[in-house]
Amino acid sequence: MSVIISPSVLSANFAHLQADIELLNRSQAEWIHIDVMDGVFVPNISFGFPVLSAIRKHSKKFLDVHLMVAQAEPYIMQFRAAGADLITVHYEAVTHVDSVIHQIKSTGAQAGVALNPGTPVSVLSEVAHLLDLVLIMSVNPGFGGQKFISYATRKVAEAKALLQAKGSFAKIEVDGGVGLHNAKELYNAGANVLVAGNAVFGSDNPEKTIEEMISICH
Ligand code: DX5
Ligand code: ZN
Repeated sequence: MSVIISPSVLSANFAHLQADIELLNRSQAEWIHIDVMDGVFVPNISFGFPVLSAIRKHSKKFLDVHLMVAQAEPYIMQFRAAGADLITVHYEAVTHVDSVIHQIKSTGAQAGVALNPGTPVSVLSEVAHLLDLVLIMSVNPGFGGQKFISYATRKVAEAKALLQAKGSFAKIEVDGGVGLHNAKELYNAGANVLVAGNAVFGSDNPEKTIEEMISICH
């Protein structure tokens, strides 16, 4: 299966966001990664429903919404209504992970759970069969442009083994410090979706970088 590139708009130009969304529409990226940060779960605040709705209006892509939010449960329906196709919550931010996965899926969205670098993959063993996506953080969440944490690659392989053991068809997404230098290693370890913010929007030619990330994995 071909790798999915999910550029993170956190690194886009918010003064010309529509232009960057139209650039992604023209690109080979199948998804768009939308980082919602609340300033509580992570030490940064990004954007919320109005920006998501604006992206939905102009985007032709699958919207992969990553909630770095301390209490996401009350807002799941609103994120779906604003245009989320997939909603990922952090394992570390929810009390009842089985329940919130069902809650996300009841809206018609796909459900993902994200793990911070220090959280073992094994915490997902009881809910792996419910998931559409496992997000392996390869930076400590809160900012784009950080350095890749190398043990995330091993966690990708562990996630692949866990999902296979549980008969889950969930995708594995890697998020943070991903670029041309480590895309193939992550794909070979079992990642199906690669998030890239700075590597894409910080490059001279984002469309070309996306193409190169895809071809480098095959
Ligand atoms: C960090 C976010 C990531 C980040 C990725 O908390 O979850 O999605 O924006 O950006 P890069 O690819 O620049 O590390
Ligand atoms: Zn993210």
